[in-house]
Amino acid sequence: MTTDVRTIAWTGDALRLLDQTVLPARVEYLEVRDVGALVDAIRRLVVRGAPALGVAGAFGVAIAVRQAVREGWDDAERDAAIARVREARPTAVNLAAGVDRVLPRVPEGAAAVAAEAQAVLDEDVRANRAIGAHGADWLAARCPGRPLRLLTHCNAGALATAGWGTALGVVRELHARDRVELVYADETRPLLQGARLTAWELRESGIPCLVQADAAAPSTIMRGLVDAAVIGADRIAANGDTANKVGSLGVALACAAAGIPLLVAAPWSTIDRATRSGGDIPIEERAAEEILAFGGTRTVPEGVAAFNPAFDVTPARLVTALATETGVLEVSAGAVPGSRPQVGEPL
Ligand code: MRU
Repeated sequence: MTTDVRTIAWTGDALRLLDQTVLPARVEYLEVRDVGALVDAIRRLVVRGAPALGVAGAFGVAIAVRQAVREGWDDAERDAAIARVREARPTAVNLAAGVDRVLPRVPEGAAAVAAEAQAVLDEDVRANRAIGAHGADWLAARCPGRPLRLLTHCNAGALATAGWGTALGVVRELHARDRVELVYADETRPLLQGARLTAWELRESGIPCLVQADAAAPSTIMRGLVDAAVIGADRIAANGDTANKVGSLGVALACAAAGIPLLVAAPWSTIDRATRSGGDIPIEERAAEEILAFGGTRTVPEGVAAFNPAFDVTPARLVTALATETGVLEVSAGAVPGSRPQVGEPL
C-alpha cells in the first residue's frame, strides 16, 4: 500500500491494531493491553482475516501473561484468559494456531512469548510475498496473454494479514508484472469487507477496481467478464474443502460453471489437517443485527429474525488450485494439502 498503515504491531507493552471497523472513513489505531479488550476487538472485527487473527492470538498470549503478573492471577486464571483469546472466533484456524504456537514459551514470561509472536508476524510477511509470487506465476501460466480481469471476495489483503495479503498479494504481484486489467471486488455483505477494505487497499495501490454487489458475482463470471477468481481462506480441511467468507461458494460454483480458475491463496497455517473435511469446520454465526439493519437503520420488518453465518465451505472439487508459501497445489485435480513440505522440497 502507498499509505503508511500497519494492520497489527507490538509496541513492547501493547498490541497496536488498525481499527478496521471505521475504515475507509477514518484511519485510527487501538492499543490493546488486556485480554478483555483483545477479545472484544477480535469479535467486533477491529482485527480480522485469518493470518492477522493468528498474529493477534499469538500476541494475545503475551498480553495475558503480562496481565496475570499485573493483576496477580494464578496459572489457572491466566490459562482461562488465554483460552478466551483462542476461542474468540471459531472459524479461522489461524487464531487457535497462533495461540498454540507460543504456548510453550509461557513459562519463560511475556517477553519470550512476545518474541515468538513476533516470529509468527515476520513469517506471515514472508509467506505473503511467497504466496503472491507462486500464485501469480500459476495464474500467469494458466491465463497467458493480456492483462487479467480478476474477481475477489471479502478482504484477503494487507488488512487481513501482517504483510501485503494473500489473495491481494497475488493481485499485487500480477499488477507489478502489468498483468492486471481490473479487479471486481464483491462488496461482502453484511459487514462490507470488500467495499470498505479491499476497495480501499486497491485504490491505495493504484490497482483498477470496481465494487459490485455480492449477488452480481456469479453473473459477472458467467457473462465472461472475469478471467479468474482469487480468494483467501479461513480454514482448509485435510481434504482441501475451504471455508471462507460467506458468498465464496457462489463465486466457486460460478467459476466451475464458466470454466475459469478459482485460486485460493493461503499460508500453510490456514490448513488444518486435524479437520478431515468441510463439514467438520465450525462456522461462526454472528449477531442477527448485522443483517436486520443497514447503517444503523432497521431494514427488516419488526418481528422477523435473521440467519447470519459468516462463512461458507467450498468443496475441494471446486477449488482449482491453492497457492501457499511453498508453491501451488492443484486441488480439484486431486492434490490435497498433506504434510507441509520443507523449503526446496517439491510439493
Ligand atoms: O470475518 P472476516 O472479515 O475475518 O473474514 C475474513 C475472510 O473471510 C478472509 O477472506 C480470510 O480470512 C482470508 S484473509 C487472508
